[in-house]
Amino acid sequence: RDSSSNSRGALVVLEGLDRCGKTTQASRLAQYLEGLGHSVELWRFPDRTTSVGQMISSYLSNESQLDDHTIHLLFSANRWEKRSLMETKLKGGTTIILDRYSYSGVAFSCAKGLNFEWCKAPEVGLLAPDLVLYLNISPKMAAERKGYGSERYEQIEFQNQVVEAYRDLMIGSNWQIVDACQPMEVIEKELQEIVLDCVKKCQNGAPLSDLWS
Ligand code: TYD
Repeated sequence: RDSSSNSRGALVVLEGLDRCGKTTQASRLAQYLEGLGHSVELWRFPDRTTSVGQMISSYLSNESQLDDHTIHLLFSANRWEKRSLMETKLKGGTTIILDRYSYSGVAFSCAKGLNFEWCKAPEVGLLAPDLVLYLNISPKMAAERKGYGSERYEQIEFQNQVVEAYRDLMIGSNWQIVDACQPMEVIEKELQEIVLDCVKKCQNGAPLSDLWS
């Protein structure tokens, strides 16, 4: 690596409905890159380990009630509290595989009926990902998977609204849409190829930018 250039790690985001398989695929991706000798970390939002994250976690498990705007801003704050560490890691050459990001923030809050632009506003200035991978699955298929239904948002009618909001976010974007109903190994291979290409581009120097540019 040429340290005089702007070589850096890549910010790779996985998005999709609950039970789309992102968490499994994110960890496999991280293992794959690690195996190739890359410096890589697996992150997720919400990050339930911080004090803001604990408020979110208690809300998601229905242990506490919060106004829709309030929880939206907490999710956003949870990303802001990690922004500078994220930038340091990326500039230090570490690739971050991210299980959910601002797009989840906007999609889930819009699904409740909050205004699209209002939802985007607190995300402005967070780091823009180099790649967004959308694991595409219908709410019906997702609901048939095991482990579904334990948390606040895991209801089919609500997930239908989330899909609509994700569709609005996709317009004019360059997200990579991956069919999440394929066998796990097929998805894995598909993701590996796309991500490796992105990691190499960032290694060769790519400027970091902010959302939503
Ligand atoms: P996650 O921890 O990914 O749940 P799981 O591990 O059970 O898949 O996310 C928890 C829920 O929070 C999920 O339904 C999506 C929602 N969410 C938001 O509403 N806003 C956000 O900003 C984020 C990151 C997630």
